[in-house]
Amino acid sequence: MLKGKDMLSIHDLSVDDVQEILTLAQELKAMQKAGVEHHLLAGKTLGMIFEKSSTRTRVSFETGMYQLGGQALFLSNRDLQLGRGEPIKDTARVLSRYLDGIMIRTFGHDRVEELARWADIPVINALTDLLHPCQVLTDLLTIQEHKGKNLRGLKMAYVGDGNNMTNSYMYGCAKVGMTFVAATPEDYRPDETVTKQAMEDARATGASIALVTDPKEAVRGADIVVTDTWASMGQEKEHEARKKVFAPYQVNRELLSGADRRVIVMHCLPAYRGEEITDDVLEDNADVIFDEAENRLHTQKAIMALTMG
Ligand code: CP
Ligand code: NVA
Repeated sequence: MLKGKDMLSIHDLSVDDVQEILTLAQELKAMQKAGVEHHLLAGKTLGMIFEKSSTRTRVSFETGMYQLGGQALFLSNRDLQLGRGEPIKDTARVLSRYLDGIMIRTFGHDRVEELARWADIPVINALTDLLHPCQVLTDLLTIQEHKGKNLRGLKMAYVGDGNNMTNSYMYGCAKVGMTFVAATPEDYRPDETVTKQAMEDARATGASIALVTDPKEAVRGADIVVTDTWASMGQEKEHEARKKVFAPYQVNRELLSGADRRVIVMHCLPAYRGEEITDDVLEDNADVIFDEAENRLHTQKAIMALTMG
């Protein structure tokens, strides 16, 4: 039961919560395609706080809220008093008096936790430096569409920087019983605490989580290969140096030759062609990657309907 709850991390969700989100997302997608009205949040308002850039997250949350019969407010930290130093705990209590839910994209994960602690309406994490749960739940829906509903036992290989996506993939794969292997340089492994927690979650579902440094080893026999930018938002100054470190971690056709022959490649976007992924691999997998982008809409509608409904 997600009603009234926050959605800060997949780790906090039960196995059933994850299934409930994926099932409702699929139903809402079918309804939207069939032109069936689904005003599950009529008269409700979502506030969307952005302290980082966004294309997909902003447009899909805003459109999703409209399709659910509610409305969304775009709140940039350039305009909010939050950006001038008003404390999060005050912002949270004020916004709770006007809104029915808050979505936030920011830097430190502690900012989202602080907001959720003080808000008495559901808070949805739309990306922090640590986690990107909405994207990974979306990716699970997309994998179901392309590989069949039973995710158990499928192998996902992540290649590149151990970042917010990697952390959330570990949590997500653990909840649905998948095999997850990340290949990252030694000094760019995903978060240690998240890794430990995901390994514990994995025990309950029969999933497995492994960290390696060799991309070929990770990709061997993989059903799904994923990657993400080598320099996340906030790391712009390190971009040039990171290009050198991550050069052996590019997802290209040669690397994929070791994967399952029906492998699909996913990318949360925005992609940097010629860095973490080659143009040909991205275009070979464009149907999957743009389904993945579309599915942000359906998955987040499910999350909003379940938490704010
Ligand atoms: N994948 C993703 O979150 O995209 P945006 O940064 O454009 O929202
Ligand atoms: N890891 C990337 C994801 C962007 C959607 C970032 O945090 O910038």
